[in-house]
Amino acid sequence: MFEYLSATKTDPILGLMAAYRADTREHKIDLGVGVYMDDRGFTPVMKAIKDAENRLVKFENTKSYQGIAGDPEFNQHMLALLFGEDHTVLRSGRIKTLQAPGGSGALRVGAELILRAKKDSRIWVGTPTWPNHIPLLGGAGLRIAEYPYYDIATRKINIDGMLQTLRSVPDGDIVLLHGCCHNPTGADLTHDEWDEITKIALERGFIPYIDTAYQGLGVGLDADAYGIRSMARSLPELIVASSCSKNFGLYRERTGSITFLSETSAKAEIVVGQAMAVARQLYSMPPAHGALLVAMILGDTGLRRSWEQELREVRERIISMRCLLTDRICENDAGVDFNHIRDQRGMFSFLGINASQLKTLRDQFGIYIVSSTRINMAGINSGNIDYLVSSLRSVLK
Ligand SMILES: Cc1ncc(COP(=O)(O)O)c(C=O)c1O
Repeated sequence: MFEYLSATKTDPILGLMAAYRADTREHKIDLGVGVYMDDRGFTPVMKAIKDAENRLVKFENTKSYQGIAGDPEFNQHMLALLFGEDHTVLRSGRIKTLQAPGGSGALRVGAELILRAKKDSRIWVGTPTWPNHIPLLGGAGLRIAEYPYYDIATRKINIDGMLQTLRSVPDGDIVLLHGCCHNPTGADLTHDEWDEITKIALERGFIPYIDTAYQGLGVGLDADAYGIRSMARSLPELIVASSCSKNFGLYRERTGSITFLSETSAKAEIVVGQAMAVARQLYSMPPAHGALLVAMILGDTGLRRSWEQELREVRERIISMRCLLTDRICENDAGVDFNHIRDQRGMFSFLGINASQLKTLRDQFGIYIVSSTRINMAGINSGNIDYLVSSLRSVLK
């Protein structure tokens, strides 16, 4: 049977990571991988997570199955984190959350649920978007359509093009939006732009599907949820996939949630039943460990304070690397403008250099960047900034 299989293409990011690992140059820099790194270049376990793990080891008394929807306390805390403690939908009975295996698992459960509701559903994704959106959503069977998002030339969101396309989206289609810290561009919607999209969604009857994988890494936990919270106030239906990989540093523990807002509480009951049937078909039950830690942290004043403080430090480090890089390379001989890097949010931005400059950076200087020129700001640190800037200056000459 296996003779019918042909080899898959190497994922470009995995290929880049392998090349970086094999590179023996001391000054090599990895700006390709999509994980947070501290100033020493490590992806640490957050202190609140370590403390919660120590408590869990002491008090956990069973490894028996948990339900298909995961840990109910985790789900309640995630709802409050995403929507804010006092959001009216939390008391409406219209909203249901399931724990999911990471943001990716959540996205897939959402896609499968959409297909259960309507077989030939279509989802509109921005160009560009996180590359895994296409296999996760399209692989489930959703038809993919695109709206313009980022304009490489102006280094800004092509808001006119985006809104114009959204005004043509038919009733019942789905529109994927990034909650904050857009991956790969770092270009986020303003509050007014969120409000305008909400208005168009109401007029056209499309359903926004918000993917939020970086809450707290942009401006702040509440500010980063503006789009989710304002859309939930106005729209009859909404889907939100969220990930705890970055803001809790729980990458390998596969922790996330999928939330459905329905028009009525009766419909919400049907939706959650169908979503549980999807989960049952795909993986039966989500892994417990990460979700138990998140629930413990969000439910405990001291742990929560420690987590919020560390998350603030993460965010501030990213912002300071954005400012530092912009300040240091803005005055370059080629006159290339990098001011967008200072203004954008989250871990990523497009550097916006050409393919041959990218290749020179990698071959001659050992600086690894994916072909889209997306760079991970957290890959920059006090130990490599001078080398990065001098290398960039020499390729820009
Ligand atoms: C935009 C976006 N959505 C979802 C995810 C999925 O995260 P997870 O690792 O929790 O599956 C990521 C991860 O990089 C992401 O960047």
